[in-house]
Formats: sequence, C-alpha cells, structure tokens
Amino acid sequence: MESWTIQKLLNWVTEYFTGKSVDSPRLSAEWLLCYALGIKRIELYTQFNKIVGQEQLLQLHELVKRAGTHEPIAYLTGKKEFYSLEFEITKDCLIPRPETELLVERAIEFLRTRNGEQFICDLCTGCGCVAVAIARNFANCRIVATDISDTALAIAEKNIARHGLMNRIKLLQGDLFEPVIAGLGPAKFDLIVCNPPYVSEPDYEKLTPNVKDFEPKSALAAGQDGLDIIKRIIADASRHLKPTGILMLEIGNEQGNEVQKLLETAGCFSDVKIEKDYSNLDRLAVAVAKPAK
Ligand SMILES: C[S@@+](CC[C@H](N)C(=O)[O-])C[C@H]1O[C@@H](n2cnc3c(N)ncnc32)[C@H](O)[C@@H]1O
Repeated sequence: MESWTIQKLLNWVTEYFTGKSVDSPRLSAEWLLCYALGIKRIELYTQFNKIVGQEQLLQLHELVKRAGTHEPIAYLTGKKEFYSLEFEITKDCLIPRPETELLVERAIEFLRTRNGEQFICDLCTGCGCVAVAIARNFANCRIVATDISDTALAIAEKNIARHGLMNRIKLLQGDLFEPVIAGLGPAKFDLIVCNPPYVSEPDYEKLTPNVKDFEPKSALAAGQDGLDIIKRIIADASRHLKPTGILMLEIGNEQGNEVQKLLETAGCFSDVKIEKDYSNLDRLAVAVAKPAK
C-alpha cells in the first residue's frame, strides 16, 4: 500500500484545494492537516517525513472532501484565531474576520484614555470574539454582550469560560438593547461596540458559496440596503451611553457616507468619524455621545 508522509499529503491537499478554488489553498491544507493529525503548524515541518496512519488518512480524506465543496475550514476544525486568541466556532456563529480586529484595536485605544472601571456593551456578540479580545487586553472593565441567537450565545459562553472571563463578561439573549433594559435597568455604558449584520439583500445573493451556503444568514444580512440593524442601533445607542461615551460600529465597505449621515442627523452624537481598514475600505464608524442638555 502507498505510504503517505506529511510532506506528500501537504502537497497533495494543496494541489487539490487549488483545483477546487478553495481560499488560501496552502494555509487551508496546513490547518486541516494540523487538525486531523492533532499537531501544531510548526510540527508539520519538523515531522515532514513522518508516515501518516490509516485512521488519520481516512479522517483527513473526509475533511478534504468537505473543504472541496467550500465548507469553511474554521467550521471543519471548530476553531478560529482572532486577535491572537483561539475561539471555538460552530456553524451557529459567524466566523470571526480579520477586519473586525480594527474594531477591537480602536476600542482598546479608547479605553486606555479613560480612568476607572469601564462599562462596555458588545451588541451582536456571536461567538464572543470582540468582547473576549477587549476583556483580555483591558483588565479594568465589565462587559455586557448580547445576541439574538441562543445557539451563538452557547458558543460565546464556552469562549468566555475558555479565556477565564466569566466574572467580567455577562451574556444576555435578545434583540439588540432589549435584554440590557430587561436585565440591568437604566445601564449606561462608556463604550458600545458592535459588528452587526450589514450585508444588503442584493449583495447577500452575490456572496461566495463558502459564506452564503454555510454561515448563518441572520449574522450577515440586514435588509434591502444592509442598514436595518445599524439604523436601529443608532436610534437607540445614545440612551445607553454615558455623556462622552462612544459608539463604535463595524460597517460595510461602501456604507461610510450613509452611516456618517445617519449618525450626524441623529442629533445626539458629536465627532462622527468613518475609518478605513488596511485595504482602504470603509470599515468603522465612531461617534461620541453628546452630553444631555
Ligand atoms: C456579523 S455577526 C458578528 C459576530 C461577532 N461579534 C463577530 O464579530 O464575529 C452578527 C451577529 O448579530 C446577531 N444578530 C442579528 N440580529 C440581531 C438582533 N436583532 N439583535 C441581536 N443580535 C443580532 C447574529 O446572531 C450574529 O451573531
């Protein structure tokens, strides 16, 4: 019987993924091999000539076949790195995106300018990646994280426990701010962060199969112009912010002008800014709550 070394497998899977137009074929092959063989990425290279056993080959074969149909690698391995932290992921939650690290980075920068314990709300928390990344990098804070999906919240709960943050992040299930009111009374936050669903219906139809066929639509799509959820957050956020508290929203790459207008015409924010990401696309909207008159 033909024997397969790690090196030979890595090359074969990379070539197979290239032929199937899987994203980042070499990297995807590495992640799947690491998962199937239970080893770290560096070990793929330090054990290049190791022969892989029959049982592991069968498991890998199954995973490679599924990845070839564009099932995301993160759902196959059940893991995704975000802000240099590892998160558990299932098909019930969106796979954290590198673009969202900008939201976390700006949130942490803002928190470091403040004094005392900071009270934060992470709306649409999904797997909890934004809340966990902030809490791990800024100790003096408490976070309320909400999501409408109880299955996503079950994953967030595991991630919060995995990173030892149970006493600093509280999860609440419900529609945007609704559970915050029900759970905590008139809570006022120093910072509200949110990576909401913001894909328009027409754009949703054009998403690549690895996104559209596998990730939850409720985590992505937000009405005809993609702004349904963002509009509702802008309408409600200032009631939940302390004076000089900040709202930070991830936005779609062509939504900057529209979101800026929405924030400016809401009348309760000052210093509205739209920031571009590392690919020079609109990515973040930031607005400061005006003190109440
Ligand atoms: C784009 S995902 C963001 C997940 C995570 N924060 C991240 O950055 O990877 C949006 C999340 O919003 C949740 N969601 C959608 N509509 C909602 C609503 N009306 N109220 C609360 N959460 C909602 C979805 O369940 C999903 O988990």
